[in-house]
Amino acid sequence: MSIITMASTKGGAGKTTVAQLILGVVKKRGFSVGVIDCDPNQTLATWLAYISDLNVECSPARDHSQLVAEVKRLNARHDLVVIDTAGGRSQEMIFAIHCADLVLIPAQMSNYDVNEAVKTFNIVKGAGGMTGRDIPARMVYTGYVPKTQVGKEVRRKIDKHGIPALKTRLHQLVVHRELTFSGKLPSNGTAAAQAELLAQEIYDQGFLPCMLELRKAS
Ligand SMILES: Nc1ncnc2c1ncn2[C@@H]1O[C@H](COP(=O)(O)OP(=O)(O)O)[C@@H](O)[C@H]1O
Ligand SMILES: [Mg+2]
Repeated sequence: MSIITMASTKGGAGKTTVAQLILGVVKKRGFSVGVIDCDPNQTLATWLAYISDLNVECSPARDHSQLVAEVKRLNARHDLVVIDTAGGRSQEMIFAIHCADLVLIPAQMSNYDVNEAVKTFNIVKGAGGMTGRDIPARMVYTGYVPKTQVGKEVRRKIDKHGIPALKTRLHQLVVHRELTFSGKLPSNGTAAAQAELLAQEIYDQGFLPCMLELRKAS
């Protein structure tokens, strides 16, 4: 029903963490989620299989040649399909961008993250140009530290490049690192509230239609 691809040419930008938070909120609201992990490190797939107790179907497809068929298969079975990709440029990343209803481009608070976010945004726009479909993309600020100069610099540069960013900023919080060991997504406090706000904002922009169905039903 809805396909969200996580992409940034930079490793360590926050792709897998943002994927975990979004799929956690959508699952918590009672919807089904399918995941395709194209990262050869299989970070998200391993977390889902061995660390988290979330019941999420995770496709073993890693290769671009299998990706489109797998996306179609999971999309028919689930309310949301999340595709996580590796840093750098890969065939898988390009295919995953083409399949997406929305591409999320996370960036932590560094010039390196911003440079790669700009490159990634241009890749998404270039991919859209190839097929004549404007592929929606949004930046997600993560590891954000409010009221800091670096936060201002990052926002200034992203704005200068005209990259649309989600208003919800995920703060730098240790719970995001803890979940890599515990498997537990934040259930209260700032991290949980920000994850909810992020999903809500994505819904408000029309990219999580399954959540609309819940509203209609209730
Ligand atoms: N908001 C955040 N606060 C604190 N640590 C974060 C945050 N977002 C990501 N991290 C940490 O940064 C590292 C890289 O994030 P990750 O999601 O694995 O990036 P990517 O998937 O883009 O390589 C991980 O150790 C993760 O726990
Ligand atoms: Mg990752």
